[in-house]
Amino acid sequence: MSDNNGFEPTIVGYFCNWCTYAGADLAGSSRLQYPHNVRGIRVMCSSSVDPMYLLRALFGGADGVILCGCEPGDCHYISGNYKARRRMMVLKTVLETLGLEGDRLWMRWIGAPDGPKFAKTMNEFTELIREKGPNPLGTAWNV
Ligand code: FES
Repeated sequence: MSDNNGFEPTIVGYFCNWCTYAGADLAGSSRLQYPHNVRGIRVMCSSSVDPMYLLRALFGGADGVILCGCEPGDCHYISGNYKARRRMMVLKTVLETLGLEGDRLWMRWIGAPDGPKFAKTMNEFTELIREKGPNPLGTAWNV
């Protein structure tokens, strides 16, 4: 547990409909504990999330953003998750080059039967962001 003055982060999660969203459902129906801080948004594929959405969430007040897609080889659109991973790596590099915190942005592959992995990942990410404190970018774009 962090001692960050009781700070509770707001986290935006983009979850692929075919895998992670089902994993989140399984975590819930299995009564696995994961933080309420994560606001999940269902998308059809991790590759359908434009990097601008990730930036907009970070600049709009989210303390952390996580993009989750199918495991390698399982993407319903063949290679969408690989494309999403490449975009994410570029985006993190750009953020870090600008002196911003790239680790406020995570990408993970979580399959439909991976309820425990979903809960573990959300717990780990929330704890990391809780320890880091509020996003200094705050509401830079006032969105
Ligand atoms: Fe799940 Fe592409 S369909 S990441």
